[in-house]
Amino acid sequence: MRRLEKRVALVTGAGQGIGAAIARRLAQEGAEVHVSDMQEDRAAAVVAEIAGQGGKAVACRLDVTEAGAWQQVVADIAVQSGRLDILVNNAGLVIAKSVEEMSQQEWRQTMTVNLEGPFLGVQSCLALLRESAKTTPFGSSIVHVSSLSGIVGTAAMPGYTASKAGLRFFSKSIAIDFGRKGYRIRSNSVHPGLTEGNSAEALFAAHTRNGLSSNREEALRHFLDKYPLGYMGRLEDVAAGVAYLASDEAAFVTGTELVIDGGMSAY
Ligand SMILES: NC(=O)c1ccc[n+]([C@@H]2O[C@H](COP(=O)([O-])OP(=O)(O)OC[C@H]3O[C@@H](n4cnc5c(N)ncnc54)[C@H](O)[C@@H]3O)[C@@H](O)[C@H]2O)c1
Repeated sequence: MRRLEKRVALVTGAGQGIGAAIARRLAQEGAEVHVSDMQEDRAAAVVAEIAGQGGKAVACRLDVTEAGAWQQVVADIAVQSGRLDILVNNAGLVIAKSVEEMSQQEWRQTMTVNLEGPFLGVQSCLALLRESAKTTPFGSSIVHVSSLSGIVGTAAMPGYTASKAGLRFFSKSIAIDFGRKGYRIRSNSVHPGLTEGNSAEALFAAHTRNGLSSNREEALRHFLDKYPLGYMGRLEDVAAGVAYLASDEAAFVTGTELVIDGGMSAY
């Protein structure tokens, strides 16, 4: 089923990992996808892959912490595509350090990428999302990639956890605000548990560095012990959740969180 025909999407941090999987999935659903990343060569590689499979995609350089870069990207999308229906705030930074280890600069960097980035994204894209929302049956959609660590505390990374919890409530707050104002823009968050990719590897490395496990495999087993399904999520598992929230199938869904964590938070 192609649920996103004629829709235009922007995905941040889409040069690899979860963001790239989201870009691929939205394109498979029929959307024209603007694949952005602070490393443009990575975005270009994802675009080439999507194009090779018959999808429509455009690469751009976007560091989500730069307000001016957001303005430029949105202006380019308006010219190239004429609309924007879906914003996926995916770019994120994991600094897996305890309070004793983390510097003020690292704390600020975490908040700037994980929390200020999505704020700048919503602020910059708002006018175009609103305009496009007037022309579709159920309007536009914003999806924030938070984390299971935005729902439960995670001892190994208090800064990251605080930023992802903040993002969860930023999403809810704008869902209420935009809904009440009649903007026809929904806002939701997804909360992946351990998923293949860099963020999970950073967590395993921190666990090992701190002497809590002797190697990566032991750290992996330590974390997976708490997962009822017993394995890590695939990139596609998160992308499927984002595609649902971006589509009209989620027309009445706003201000909520979709947890994709193999049952970890069910205890
Ligand atoms: N992998 C997991 O286990 C997991 C679990 C929960 C949540 N998440 C979240 O999912 C998102 C993606 O995680 P991932 O594991 O795919 O990460 P990743 O490190 O593999 O990829 C992140 C991408 O974002 C880009 N990026 C980093 N900072 C940026 C910035 N300032 N501006 C623009 N792009 C930037 C990087 O260049 C990279 O391509 C993050 O928000 C992360 O917190 C991941």
